[in-house]
Amino acid sequence: MKNDYTIRPETSADYSEVENLTREAFWNVYRPGCVEHYVLHRYRTRPDFIPELSLCLLAKGKMIAHVMYAHVEIHSDDGRSIPIMTFGPISVAPDFQRQGYGTILLRHSKKKAKELGAGALAITGNIGFYGKSGFVVASTSGIHYYAEPREEAVPYFLIKELEDGFLDGITGTYTDPDGYDCEGADIEAFDAQFPSKEKLKFPGQLV
Ligand SMILES: CC(C)(COP(=O)(O)OP(=O)(O)OC[C@H]1O[C@@H](n2cnc3c(N)ncnc32)[C@H](O)[C@@H]1OP(=O)(O)O)[C@@H](O)C(=O)NCCC(=O)NCCS
Repeated sequence: MKNDYTIRPETSADYSEVENLTREAFWNVYRPGCVEHYVLHRYRTRPDFIPELSLCLLAKGKMIAHVMYAHVEIHSDDGRSIPIMTFGPISVAPDFQRQGYGTILLRHSKKKAKELGAGALAITGNIGFYGKSGFVVASTSGIHYYAEPREEAVPYFLIKELEDGFLDGITGTYTDPDGYDCEGADIEAFDAQFPSKEKLKFPGQLV
């Protein structure tokens, strides 16, 4: 079990370091370049952003991982809005990936999210990573992703109850928060403030 780290809430003094960390982690992973550092940058002023759950992990004196959380709702089929949380970007610095830090930060932040009242978390992501922390494909529990047909088992849309039974009897649809939408935004101008990096196209990128 690792014990060479600390986890603390992000402060305004961390903003640019955390954005650069996010950029380094996501660069060329899902598309040539990335947008996640810009998503985070804009998210901090949104009402659904949760400052207590914008968490930094430091190891060996270095900031090596970060995660942010947001409030979101499931629109249930019986007309209710069920408040839950989502999270991401979650970023581990490339040199520190696959050493357990992402799992540690996820475990810690899930506990804090539960303390703040979250009954469940939903996320679009890789079951290979999140499945190890108890996330399951959401459609198997009747929670559907707005962008896909209901009858599809969407393998990248995942959910985890933090409170046992929180989603019992609930079916419905989840929509990503507006804050994740970067369409039309001036990402290039924002990105130009960071060190120059080459955008590369790789097989397997989503965009
Ligand atoms: C994804 C990420 C947060 C995981 O953190 P990490 O510290 O690297 O992961 P951990 O060491 O805790 O991984 C635990 C296990 O999860 C699985 N896993 C980790 N990253 C994975 C990935 N990208 N795809 C599939 N499985 C993954 C592995 O089984 C791993 O165990 P192993 O290394 O023994 O095989 C980190 O790699 C990262 O920042 N990646 C780039 C940005 C990103 O993709 N963020 C998530 C977007 S949804």
